[in-house]
Amino acid sequence: MANRLKGKNAVVTGGAGGIGSQICLALAAEGANIVVNDVGATRDGSGTAKAPVDEVVNEIKTKGGTAIASHDSVVDFVAAERLIQTCVDTFGRIDILVNAHGNLRDKMIWNMSEDEWDSVINVHLKGTFNTCRHACVRMREQKYGRIINVTSDAWRGTVGHVNYGAAKGGVVSLTRSIALEMGRYGVTANCFAPIAATRMTFDDEVKAGMKKRLEGGLITKEQYERFMSMPGPEHTPSIVVYLVTEEAANINGQIFHIEKSRVGIYSEPAEVKMATKAKVHSTLKISTAERDLPGNFSRTILMAMWPFSPYNGPPSRRVAQIVSQITVSVTKS
Ligand SMILES: NC(=O)c1ccc[n+]([C@@H]2O[C@H](COP(=O)([O-])OP(=O)(O)OC[C@H]3O[C@@H](n4cnc5c(N)ncnc54)[C@H](O)[C@@H]3O)[C@@H](O)[C@H]2O)c1
Repeated sequence: MANRLKGKNAVVTGGAGGIGSQICLALAAEGANIVVNDVGATRDGSGTAKAPVDEVVNEIKTKGGTAIASHDSVVDFVAAERLIQTCVDTFGRIDILVNAHGNLRDKMIWNMSEDEWDSVINVHLKGTFNTCRHACVRMREQKYGRIINVTSDAWRGTVGHVNYGAAKGGVVSLTRSIALEMGRYGVTANCFAPIAATRMTFDDEVKAGMKKRLEGGLITKEQYERFMSMPGPEHTPSIVVYLVTEEAANINGQIFHIEKSRVGIYSEPAEVKMATKAKVHSTLKISTAERDLPGNFSRTILMAMWPFSPYNGPPSRRVAQIVSQITVSVTKS
């Protein structure tokens, strides 16, 4: 065992899952005391089981670490408070919170039921809010904390699970907002989008779906083969461990991408084109009379103009359609 996190106490949600369990083991191996939280649900978020959490706790203990189990659901606001309190009561305080819980209910927008929408938004977004909400009370008081939330590359937009994409986009915004609010109290909040073969990404149904996409010409052979050789979740934790150490005190509000042999960081979301009453910057393709430009035109129009065209091919083709193509024409009024 190393000692980078000796004396620190962590709550890891989804701690029995593919990625969460690896994070629990890695934090414990660095000396942190862990509350392993998981309801033991199926992939779609239904059902409960205690054994998966207990197995992770036992593995940590067998390797010389310290861990206790929590079977609370993060979707329940009161249960989430109990989860954070359990860490404080057992170990004295909470230093680290990792939200690695999740479920999937995949459907196209036109087939998605209200229940499928609610379930995924509740687990990913509300669950992450709940634990952060209660942990931030403690972290603000003690002027120290490290929060890591798990998002997905799907936050940029996705096909076949708009509920998941929206929830993960919400997690990004939530994390960045927490970073802004809590930074002055010595608390950092970052998130990461992993790629790892777990039951969520690599079960038989998903593999069959990818094969169908290949056969239907929706993805290339290269993309299919890359998917089929997806590495496991054991490659995820090293950057997570780094982000919760003292060394990473200045890294706040960032979105990382993590997969085997690759760590990426997303750019800051920024307004890249604008038109104002004072000056037209020749960027947006909008025909409008000058008198119709509202005072805060630059902001509002960009929100409305994101040019995401219909999905008609592999993601690589879609990415080519970007804001820079757009021009503005404003008529004098
Ligand atoms: N595996 C990937 O490639 C990948 C890619 C992008 C994002 N993610 C995200 O990473 C996180 C972990 O996913 P994973 O691949 O390890 O999946 P997983 O299914 O193995 O783990 C998810 C865990 O969350 C638990 N869980 C579900 N609902 C819960 C609740 N209400 N309270 C507490 N625990 C609950 C489940 O029981 C499960 O153990 C998820 O947020 C997922 O969206 C994973």
